[in-house]
Amino acid sequence: MSEPKKLYIKTYGCQMNVYDSERMAEALGGQGYVEIQTPDDADMILLNTCHIREKAAEKVYSELGRYKGLKAEKPDLKIGVAGCVAQAEGEEIMRRQPMVDLVVGPQSYHRLPELEAKTRSGEKALDTDFPEEDKFEVLKNRPKAKRGPTAFLTVQEGCDKFCAFCVVPYTRGAEVSRPAARILTEARDLVERGVREITLLGQNVNAYHGAGEGGDWSLARLIWALNDIDGLERIRFTTSHPNDMTDDLIEAHGTCPKLMPYLHLPVQSGSDRILKRMNRQHTAESYLVIIEKLRAARPDLLLSGDFIVGFPEETEEDFQATLDIIRASNYGYAYSFKYSTRPGTPAAERDQLPEDVKDDRLQRLQALITEQQKAAQDAMVGKEVGVLFEKPGRLPGQMVGKSDHLHAVHVQADGLQPGNLRRVRIIESGRNSLAGALVE
Ligand code: 5AD
Ligand code: SF4
Repeated sequence: MSEPKKLYIKTYGCQMNVYDSERMAEALGGQGYVEIQTPDDADMILLNTCHIREKAAEKVYSELGRYKGLKAEKPDLKIGVAGCVAQAEGEEIMRRQPMVDLVVGPQSYHRLPELEAKTRSGEKALDTDFPEEDKFEVLKNRPKAKRGPTAFLTVQEGCDKFCAFCVVPYTRGAEVSRPAARILTEARDLVERGVREITLLGQNVNAYHGAGEGGDWSLARLIWALNDIDGLERIRFTTSHPNDMTDDLIEAHGTCPKLMPYLHLPVQSGSDRILKRMNRQHTAESYLVIIEKLRAARPDLLLSGDFIVGFPEETEEDFQATLDIIRASNYGYAYSFKYSTRPGTPAAERDQLPEDVKDDRLQRLQALITEQQKAAQDAMVGKEVGVLFEKPGRLPGQMVGKSDHLHAVHVQADGLQPGNLRRVRIIESGRNSLAGALVE
């Protein structure tokens, strides 16, 4: 048998890219590639890129520059760019950086084996199609190897919402849901390989409406079917849009035993005027009503969100409304970004706010969020939670895992293994993690 070829994948951006990178490794696994963790020995380097905020493309070009030396030493090394920058820039990438052999968009990576073969015959390979065939189903050569206790599973892709700031509808395309039966098969396969927690992924995951028995299934219905899989212990999903937070899904947070008490529900801004200019199709009030219903269903729900500051036309008063909605919602985690112009999106054409105004608002918003995050973490002290252990900690005899609410928890105990799900009493709140003790 010939030596396996070595594949190095560098993943940028969201969890969907992490999932896609796994699929790309599987697709090339069929071509005799094994994945390695550093680029130095690689026969192929793939950058799986993200285009959500500015400078993404520039970052990719500078990363490519770092591989120039390697490529000169090893002419057989193939270099590829995948993901959303590949989709957005296409051929331009090879024009600007001739050492790139392969460009593949997020909807056509199941064709990597053919594209790779093309590069081996000395040609350049480019594929940024939105093909008809289901890219997930073509990847049949998935190895049955054991896996860690947690996994991502993409159930929905793309977006039809067209928020005025966002490139996703352009790079990932229209909303597409995978059929329910295929998702369930993939979930059972993951569980057989050791997975105990699955996070369902989609750009608009709660807009899921995949074909299933008896007609289209909602995300709630899919979650209930996953709840029946023996050996699967925890279910999460991300990212949701407020307008698709249907009653059956809200109710599932109170009644579905394996659905974890954590929800990422971005609102972006607390000002109705800005929400309208963002084309969000909801108001601050309607968002707060959803949060109220969710907390009525599941009082200990930990909420996380995304915020954009410095969107075109945002005044100090609009910004204050964002701080108000943060105070009213009380987040356990939040991610905040300065607005950045994305070519081809409506808001990119508008008058932009000065950088120092954006910086100042981001700082003030992050100070409030940090306070809330710390309070939410500190409030866990004394409580009993489930922890799914993932790996050994820094100290001898220590194991770390994630709580039901997604806090990192470390515990000092003998005999704990990755994949163990235990009841833990939280005894201390540290800077970025909690300390706990096993409940007998
Ligand atoms: N500028 C800043 N933040 C953005 N996001 C999406 N597009 C932009 C942009 N142009 C943020 C949103 C989204 C998260 C994934 O990224 O908050 O929820
Ligand atoms: Fe982008 Fe999310 Fe808005 Fe869709 S709903 S356009 S993915 S921010």
